[in-house]
Amino acid sequence: MIPAGGLGTRFLPATKAVPKEMLPVVDKPLIQYAVEEARAAGIDSFVFVTARGKAVLEDHFDHATALDELLAADGKEDLRRAAAATALSAGMVAHVRQPAPLGLGHAVWCARHVVGATPFAVLLPDDLVLSEQPCIGQLLDAHREHGGNVVAVMDVPRADTGRYGVLDVAADDGRLASVQGLVEKPAPADAPSTLAIVGRYVLDPSVMAALDAQEPGAGGEIQLTDAMARTVGDVPFHGLRFEGRRFDCGDKLGFLEANIACALARPEMAAAARDILARFA
Ligand code: G1P
Repeated sequence: MIPAGGLGTRFLPATKAVPKEMLPVVDKPLIQYAVEEARAAGIDSFVFVTARGKAVLEDHFDHATALDELLAADGKEDLRRAAAATALSAGMVAHVRQPAPLGLGHAVWCARHVVGATPFAVLLPDDLVLSEQPCIGQLLDAHREHGGNVVAVMDVPRADTGRYGVLDVAADDGRLASVQGLVEKPAPADAPSTLAIVGRYVLDPSVMAALDAQEPGAGGEIQLTDAMARTVGDVPFHGLRFEGRRFDCGDKLGFLEANIACALARPEMAAAARDILARFA
């Protein structure tokens, strides 16, 4: 599942008419990185939770017949392949509307009838992760071993806990932490640890059931973190320090950093990008 209902106000005026998920990192919209990560991990069934003004997301992941024919006629095979690669084939994607921005937990709950009573993955497109093995694939491996809920985590400075869901840790082997509680965006002094949730989750269906309560939490929003916290003790729960680098594309400088990192990761432009950076450094 890919929640994409947010207003993206932090990127105004860019996001006045364009969904923030469509802002390009090099030459691909942000949300495409999340979809490619999931596909590389073997996920072939998608639910996008969208909202008013996000219809262009449906078009982006659809076949564009006229464009395809035009590029074929012009012999522009590279561009044709690049455009065609974004299409999700028939039945692979469902779009669900979130009628009001009531929080991440509410967005996930909006997809309850599509997801059904099975474990499901959630990828937040604001978090772009570059890694050898797809981050969500690392979580799926841990889920196969331990079941229950598995969330991606990273150590953050204590001063930053107010930006994340934070784990209350029962045991920690340095890679996998077993979770005895979670708090959404705690003040540094109140944070139970400095192990913060990154936007990748593999969740037990009991989390969806917990969201039925529709109880507002931090910031007055219905929080996914609170619903996950309600399942502690009922199902195994782990935080995985994933291998890879996460970029916070919900933040302007994080987004800029992601653009730089992705350009440097592309063999055909890495050297030129390095030259440009050297000129400004
Ligand atoms: C959301 C979640 C938070 C998580 C974060 C990761 O917050 O609510 O628990 O740590 O994503 O990026 P948001 O950044 O949408 O406020």
